[in-house]
Amino acid sequence: MVAVEHLVQTVRDQADACRQLGSPLYAALLERCADDIRGGGPAARVLAGHEDDPGSAALALRLMGGVHRLVLEGAAPAVAAYYPSVGGHPDPEAAWRAVRDLFDDQADRLRPLLESAPQTNEVGRSSALVGGLLHVVRAAPLPLRLVEIGTSAGLNLRADHFWYSHTDMERSWGPRDSPVRLTGSWAGMLPPVDEGLRIVSREGSDIAPVDPTTADGRLRLLSYVWPDQTDRFARLQAAIEVARRVSVDVEQRDAVSAVRRVEPVNGHWTVVWHSVMWQYLSAGDQEAVSERLAELGAAATPSAPLAHLFFEPTQRRPDAEYEFLVVLQTWPGGARRILGTGVAHGIPTTWSAAG
Ligand SMILES: C[S@@+](CC[C@H](N)C(=O)[O-])C[C@H]1O[C@@H](n2cnc3c(N)ncnc32)[C@H](O)[C@@H]1O
Repeated sequence: MVAVEHLVQTVRDQADACRQLGSPLYAALLERCADDIRGGGPAARVLAGHEDDPGSAALALRLMGGVHRLVLEGAAPAVAAYYPSVGGHPDPEAAWRAVRDLFDDQADRLRPLLESAPQTNEVGRSSALVGGLLHVVRAAPLPLRLVEIGTSAGLNLRADHFWYSHTDMERSWGPRDSPVRLTGSWAGMLPPVDEGLRIVSREGSDIAPVDPTTADGRLRLLSYVWPDQTDRFARLQAAIEVARRVSVDVEQRDAVSAVRRVEPVNGHWTVVWHSVMWQYLSAGDQEAVSERLAELGAAATPSAPLAHLFFEPTQRRPDAEYEFLVVLQTWPGGARRILGTGVAHGIPTTWSAAG
């Protein structure tokens, strides 16, 4: 009984988080799901054996991701009717009845999907990353080698193939015909948009990478976007389209071993970047990555410079609140600047540094 109460509370906590983070559909579904677990209904049967999973396993999102995956595969048409990601109209009560029936009918397909941890790659964060890159080339106009740790599917390594516009200036950046249109992605000062970016290599690594060019990888990424967040869903679909024509090297590797392999190259910027992955590293791994970057920085020269660019929840001072900051540190010299602030999904990024 105690374990069931733990599960009920975990699902309720996730419902609250979804409500606060802009998914009223998941908030409503998970509230009903929690009641159903307590009552020993179909949700309890699908989740049987997971009663003691820790909150950090995000079981409720695994379950909802599994349901969304079946919707996207066309295997759950009754649920699809209420999922905006596939053109449905959200109606919490009717959606719950369809989801509960799915728990009953397709428990065998849903249960294996609970084994996969949610995996997201948020394309909106390119707003922060690409603006940071423009500041890098403003400092020295060299070609760029991009190295991303915690890259997920590597979609943001194609950031220069997306289109960005400023919220209240008549300015934009990037290919106008890009399927990824990040309208209103920048606010505040304008990044140095007249700098040309020449990216000569794109390398990413992740402990659990996803290949967005395969049918399975595509479904995996799309299924973890909350189905009533249609803007995010559409830009992810568009970025997957870009990924099919712009190739990127992504390998399975943890962040520490990835940065240990980085070596600066003469005549190029080496840019090590990351977004919303730092919190998943142990304190020891954070220290090891920082030490390696300091070592690389000490060896950097004006003709082989290094940049560390990140968009992460960061404190300006040890006693300050966490904010999503865009931070750039460059070597030689090691000058560190806060370029701007953002929100979890990256749009808009408000720039405080002049271009
Ligand atoms: C929230 S996702 C962010 C992905 C991507 N950077 C973005 O902003 O869309 C966090 C990523 O960090 C990866 N990750 C977690 N621990 C890691 C580690 N020790 N080394 C490398 N990647 C890690 C996860 O697999 C996941 O892809």
